[in-house]
Amino acid sequence: MEFIAAYTSYVERELKKISIPDLPLTLYDPIRYFLQIGGKRMRPVLTLLGAELFGLEKERAIHAALAVEIFHNFTLIHDDIMDAAPLRRGYETVHIKWNSNTAILSGDMLMIKAYQLLEQQEGNLRLLLEAFNKTSVEICEGQQMDMDYQERTAVSISDYIEMIRLKTSVLLGCALELAAIIANASEDDRKHIYNFGVYVGLAFQIQDDILDLYADPDKFGKQTGGDVIANKKTILYLLARENASDEQLKKLNALSIEQNGQLKVHETRQLFDEIGVKNKSVDMMNHYFFLAQQEMNKVSVPDKNKLLLNQISEYLLKRDV
Ligand code: IPE
Ligand code: IPE
Ligand code: MG
Ligand code: MG
Ligand code: MG
Repeated sequence: MEFIAAYTSYVERELKKISIPDLPLTLYDPIRYFLQIGGKRMRPVLTLLGAELFGLEKERAIHAALAVEIFHNFTLIHDDIMDAAPLRRGYETVHIKWNSNTAILSGDMLMIKAYQLLEQQEGNLRLLLEAFNKTSVEICEGQQMDMDYQERTAVSISDYIEMIRLKTSVLLGCALELAAIIANASEDDRKHIYNFGVYVGLAFQIQDDILDLYADPDKFGKQTGGDVIANKKTILYLLARENASDEQLKKLNALSIEQNGQLKVHETRQLFDEIGVKNKSVDMMNHYFFLAQQEMNKVSVPDKNKLLLNQISEYLLKRDV
C-alpha cells in the first residue's frame, strides 16, 4: 500500500473538503460517520492513476475520482441493509447504529452527492454521465441478482460471473473509463482500460468472497462468514457444489437451513476445506488477473505509465482486508 500512499492520502484530504451540512443531524451524521471510518479508497485511486496513465496530472480527475468513491459508499450503506451486515470497516453499519430508514436516506444523499461531484469535473460531461449512469444501472441489476440467488440453488458459475461483473466489476471499469474520457484517450484505449478494470474487478470480488470466509476477523472489518449465513452464491459455494461428492452435497444442502449461524459457518468452512475450494477460487482469481494484464498490454501508452496500475491490481488480489 505504501506505493500508493500519496494517492490515498490525497483522496482522504479531498474527501474531507466535501461540505456536509449539520442539519438534519440524523441525515448528515451517518454520512460524516461513514466517510471517516476508513476504506481502502481503491476506486478513486484507480481514477487518478488512470489519468496519469494517459498523461494527465491526477488533480485534473479528482472530481470524478471523488464521485466514484462517494457512489461506492452509497452502495455499501444500502448493501449492508440488504445483506443484514452488522460491521463495515471495523465499525457498526449505518442501519445498525441508526436504523434502516436512516441508512436508506443517507445512502440516497450520498448518491446525489456523487452526481454533484461529477458536475464539477472538467471534460466531456455527456460522456462522463453516460458511462457513470450505465454503471449505476448495472450495479442495481447485479445487486438484485445477488439477492435473488440467495433463494436459488441452481446458479451456474457463468451466472455468478455475470452477477459479480454487474454488482462490482463495472464500477472499477468505470473508475478507469472516466479517466480515459477526461484525458480524451482514443476509443480503443478507453475500451481496453475499461476491460482491464472489469477483469481486475472480477478478480477483486472473487478475493472478497474468499476473504468473507477466510479472513482474520481481527483485521477484516466485516463479519466473517456473513455470506455463508445469508446463503450467498459465492465462488466458494459454487465450486464446492461442482466438486462435492454425493455425501458432501447432502451435507451442503442440509447446512443451508442450519439456524445456528456460528455452527453453520464453522461446518461450511470445514466442508469447503475438505473439498478444496479455496485453491480453486484462487486459480480462478488469477485467471481474471491474467486477462486484465492482457487488456493492459493493449493500451497504447509507454510501459512506464502502466507500472502503478499493474502494481495496484496485484495488491488488490493479495490484500487481507
Ligand atoms: C467492498 O469494497 C464491496 C465490494 C465490491 C467487494 P471494498 O473492499 O473496496 O470496500 P472499502 O471501500 O475498502 O471499505
Ligand atoms: C458488494 O458485494 C457489491 C456492492 C456493494 C455493490 P458484497 O456484499 O460481497 O460486498 P461486502 O462483502 O459486503 O463488502
Ligand atoms: Mg455485503
Ligand atoms: Mg451484497
Ligand atoms: Mg462480500
